Amino acid sequence: MLTFDSIQLNMPFIQAPLAGYTDHPMRLLAKQHGCSLTFTGVMLDKIAVHPKAIKLKKFHPHDDEHPVGAQILGEEPDVMSQAAVQFLKIGYDLIDLNFACPAPKVLRRARGGHLMAKPEVIRETFLRTREKVDCPVFMKIRIGYDHSAESEEKFWQICENAATDGVDMLAIHGRTVSQKYRGKADWNVIAEVKKRFPSLTIFGSGDIYTAETAMSRLKESGVDGVMIARGAIGNPWIFSELQALWNGKDMPENPPLPEQGRVMLEHFRLICEAYPERKAYPYFRKFAVGYCKRHPQRKKTMLAIMAAKSKAAVNDIIHNAYGL
Ligand SMILES: Cc1cc2nc3c(=O)[nH]c(=O)nc-3n(C[C@H](O)[C@H](O)[C@H](O)COP(=O)(O)O)c2cc1C
Repeated sequence: MLTFDSIQLNMPFIQAPLAGYTDHPMRLLAKQHGCSLTFTGVMLDKIAVHPKAIKLKKFHPHDDEHPVGAQILGEEPDVMSQAAVQFLKIGYDLIDLNFACPAPKVLRRARGGHLMAKPEVIRETFLRTREKVDCPVFMKIRIGYDHSAESEEKFWQICENAATDGVDMLAIHGRTVSQKYRGKADWNVIAEVKKRFPSLTIFGSGDIYTAETAMSRLKESGVDGVMIARGAIGNPWIFSELQALWNGKDMPENPPLPEQGRVMLEHFRLICEAYPERKAYPYFRKFAVGYCKRHPQRKKTMLAIMAAKSKAAVNDIIHNAYGL
């Protein structure tokens, strides 16, 4: 069983950080379906070091969802490591440093994926954070800034430093920063990292949409674990399916419609608790797209939820469409 200090994983599959998705409702549903570690979407270090911003409830973990990791974005090792201290103080269980984000505004500010071109900054950020916090410290990277020979060299430097410095877990998204989300994730590179640095705990990420794919990627690549990202949006059952497969059981049947409906209602209820109604029902739409994929009348159900203009309307549609 994989462990990170007192955090024990029941299987080597965890929820990946997803900005705009992995808030408390999505994390809790993942947990309830068997996922034993989740992360926030990326949070700017400046939030944590700002005395007013850090008090906002939306940045805090909830009691019912531990363990949960705080993912930090920034450009300066010092500020990022101070942010790690603050996030731990408000209850997160571990720290994940983001060097992978490809958003243009993030790159312009020399944060996230930009730092794949600066191995020495990544190293310093990890070492300063390690010094300041007494919890597992993870890093999330990509397979390089781009496909140039220089980027490749820097990528291997980053991995070697991570192995030497004792990064607790290195998560690798098998695309370059320049690729953003285009093309296929290159799992050969991820596998090669594990081969070259066997002592480093590696989680692979990229193009995992089904439990079967996650299982085969784990076996073929030899990594320690696999992160489920877009494949878990509106699909918490991917974690119960993975648990079954991991324990040698058959792939579970599609959950019956009323069960699907109940989980959707619960997700929507948690969203309504966290956001005002005018934000809650539009926000739920992007999860509904995922949920509806399991419905025999996918398009009709999805369009009805998209067209709903209130909390009550969304609830009614789910009740009707899922036989509740
Ligand atoms: C909408 C969206 C938001 C994301 N947000 C984050 C984030 O906040 N932090 C992070 O490390 N990765 C983030 N990622 C990357 C995912 O964690 C994952 O590595 C990537 O999507 C590849 O996996 P997939 O192809 O299985 O989705 C995001 C991806 C998407 C599509």
